[in-house]
Amino acid sequence: MQTQPYWIQSTESTHYPTLKEHEGDIDVAIIGGGMVGITTAYLLKEKGFRVVVLEARRILEGATGHTTAKVTLQHDLIYNTLIKNFGQFQAQQYADANQKALDQMKKWIEEKNIQCDFSSQTSYVYTEQETYLTQIEEEVKAAQILGLPAFYTDNTELPFPIKGAVGFKEQGQFHPRKYLLHFGQEIVEQDPCIFENTRVLDIKGDGPYTIVTDQGELKTKKVIIASHFPIYDGGGFYFTRMYTERSYAIAVQIEESLFQGMYINVEKPTRSFRTLPTEQGELLLLGGNGHKTGYGGNTEKHYTNLEEYARQIYTVQSIPFRWSTQDCMTVDQVPYIGPLTSKTKDIYVATGFKKWGMTTSTVAGMILSDLIAEKKNPYSDIFSPSRWNPKAGVKEFLRQNTEVAQEFITGKLSAKAKNPTCSHLGCQLIQNEAEESWDCPCHGSRFELDGEVIEGPAIKKFKE
Ligand SMILES: Cc1cc2nc3c(=O)[nH]c(=O)nc-3n(C[C@H](O)[C@H](O)[C@H](O)COP(=O)(O)OP(=O)(O)OC[C@H]3O[C@@H](n4cnc5c(N)ncnc54)[C@H](O)[C@@H]3O)c2cc1C
Ligand code: FES
Repeated sequence: MQTQPYWIQSTESTHYPTLKEHEGDIDVAIIGGGMVGITTAYLLKEKGFRVVVLEARRILEGATGHTTAKVTLQHDLIYNTLIKNFGQFQAQQYADANQKALDQMKKWIEEKNIQCDFSSQTSYVYTEQETYLTQIEEEVKAAQILGLPAFYTDNTELPFPIKGAVGFKEQGQFHPRKYLLHFGQEIVEQDPCIFENTRVLDIKGDGPYTIVTDQGELKTKKVIIASHFPIYDGGGFYFTRMYTERSYAIAVQIEESLFQGMYINVEKPTRSFRTLPTEQGELLLLGGNGHKTGYGGNTEKHYTNLEEYARQIYTVQSIPFRWSTQDCMTVDQVPYIGPLTSKTKDIYVATGFKKWGMTTSTVAGMILSDLIAEKKNPYSDIFSPSRWNPKAGVKEFLRQNTEVAQEFITGKLSAKAKNPTCSHLGCQLIQNEAEESWDCPCHGSRFELDGEVIEGPAIKKFKE
């Protein structure tokens, strides 16, 4: 069994140079070469800006290289909650922004003839329990009010009966690296602007800025932090209003024929289904078992649990791939896309995609490239990182920060005190058996066994 995602296994590795090979000043430095970084770089270059992408490791191998790649604006059950918490005007912004992103992605795939295994699919959020039916029905109504292609059904192609589901027509699924590597190639054709193995360590100055990396420095007028969890906070207190959640995926060869559609349930544990076309035939991509980073116990059990579930519903022949990753969750469920703070005028951020970053990374590219070009973007308000919506976020904000404080104190007092210490804000790290890493329960930084950073907000090796 391969423990790397199918997306990485089935595409060539990238080999872009480090920043040492770059000369001259630029307009925009983008920190992070995931879906946000690459899409935004493409859109800014289209508008004529001089851009560089600075990637700590290899591009498109972070969350974007480990996703399940459903391209949909059905982000679990969200539209009824958005109308309740943000009002219909802003809920409409969220819906329209994501619809525009989906349409744009389909258009690029067609016009540029990107061979990325895109297929049009209906997406479904379903339940097997009577108690969630009201939520499903309310979501159908809310989505229809916002003009989305939503419908109710109790009949799907899943191999078990469901109680009810909300379906969205004309969504899609694809191979995220085949799609994004195309954009990477397109932007470097104009000038070499992607730099790998270049970790950003600091941002200095008040604009223009000096970006300090482990491969030298760079001057830039504007900065976009697209590092997944922001590696630079600038007084935005992102670590108090976001947390990270890991989930697991297995690719399964089954005897039965597969379904049409993409599915995710309402109840816990999460069960996410899509098909995965590969050179060896079509596989089932089954995801789920999410938990807050560092809170999963022995992480091997999450893979075992998914495998047992697959065996309950299908005749399993083999499991050729498995992988896991994490995403950033905001306390009010809406991503932060826009200026980092109201005071840092030329530093921007895009984060907090809540495991639905395929359309919202594209939304981020569209909003940030407009803001940098000083063009009004009609959807930006709901995503503003400076918002504070107590109705939506206060409960989660308190829970998150209480947990961090508890982790910090118990980490120092308990047996965990023997564990390495996170180089971000000093919480004790937890061993992740399945991924052979040290993970931080406070804000989700992860480290190799030798202490090197896998993902931030940490930027330096852990302390023994
Ligand atoms: C299990 C799971 C399944 C998912 N499935 C779906 C799905 O089906 N559909 C969907 O829409 N979304 C899905 N998502 C969400 C989606 O994958 C993510 O939201 C999205 O990929 C995030 O993209 P990104 O560019 O922000 O982050 P990333 O892809 O992680 O990119 C950030 C990059 O920044 C780099 N970086 C970090 N620190 C530094 C530094 N100091 N200097 C330079 N570079 C740095 C990293 O190395 C990385 O390459 C899923 C998420 C999870 C966890
Ligand atoms: S990620 Fe913040 S303390 Fe570890």
